[in-house]
Amino acid sequence: MIDESMTKAQRSARSGQRRTRPGKVVLVGAGPGDPDLLTVRAARLIAGAEIVVYDALVGAAVIEMIPAGARRVYVGKKAGNHALPQEEINALLVELAREGLEVIRLKGGDPFIFGRGGEERAACLQAGIECEVVPGITAAAGAASTTGIPLTHRSHAQTLVFATGHLKDDTVDLDWPALARPHQTVVIYMGLGALEIICTQLIAHGLPASTPAAVVHAATTAAQREVRSTLGELTAHVRAARLQPPALIMIGEVIDADAAFAALPQAVALTA
Ligand SMILES: C[S@@+](CC[C@H](N)C(=O)[O-])C[C@H]1O[C@@H](n2cnc3c(N)ncnc32)[C@H](O)[C@@H]1O
Repeated sequence: MIDESMTKAQRSARSGQRRTRPGKVVLVGAGPGDPDLLTVRAARLIAGAEIVVYDALVGAAVIEMIPAGARRVYVGKKAGNHALPQEEINALLVELAREGLEVIRLKGGDPFIFGRGGEERAACLQAGIECEVVPGITAAAGAASTTGIPLTHRSHAQTLVFATGHLKDDTVDLDWPALARPHQTVVIYMGLGALEIICTQLIAHGLPASTPAAVVHAATTAAQREVRSTLGELTAHVRAARLQPPALIMIGEVIDADAAFAALPQAVALTA
């Protein structure tokens, strides 16, 4: 009989039996940091986990939800300091699943948004290992909610673009004409190190230097900080504020959407 009060880890440790069932890997989105932003499925999987393989960007409060008896494997990467190369992470997931374990692969935000979840899933499938994906709230959505910056807005942005400011060979080679289009919001992940290049290129490709822009650090956590400025002045303000990764760069009129709305006559009518 299964004792429901025990975690899977405690049950398997007690049974000590060799596993015969095939293992699997579950790529679980841990969201941007606030544990209340986990999906119900993610919270259930973490609470019942026997082994969790996790990244640097998984929030400390989410890590605390891992059962005491579960194995924790840290494979986190911080810029320039790769704890474990991606190929080795892929191989580790396959190896653990082959032991018959249900491996909870906990990843910051959403596993399929700049999370290399696609590579991990492909490695599992190639090895014949089942791989499930549990979505998470991506950092942009988390930052939008806590800063009140709407990512799209009928009056200001009909297109939303997510881009990465960090490329494989450490260069920033983005599609600048596409990013510099009017009436769109651009959110750049992993771009803090290239902030000056990004702002300069967007202005060079046609966005006014007065375009509202912001950087949000550690969105949804107690450490969240934000700097709002314009494309022309953002770099200087962010340097002065000494903002560090993890941070998102947000560009577009939506950043000032509240101010623009407050200036409209209907805002008075609605609040009267
Ligand atoms: C490797 S990407 C992972 C993105 C993640 N899969 C997601 O969906 O949010 C890491 C980058 O996400 C952004 N990021 C993640 N969590 C963040 C947070 N709480 N606040 C601001 N930016 C965050 C930063 O740009 C960071 O460098």
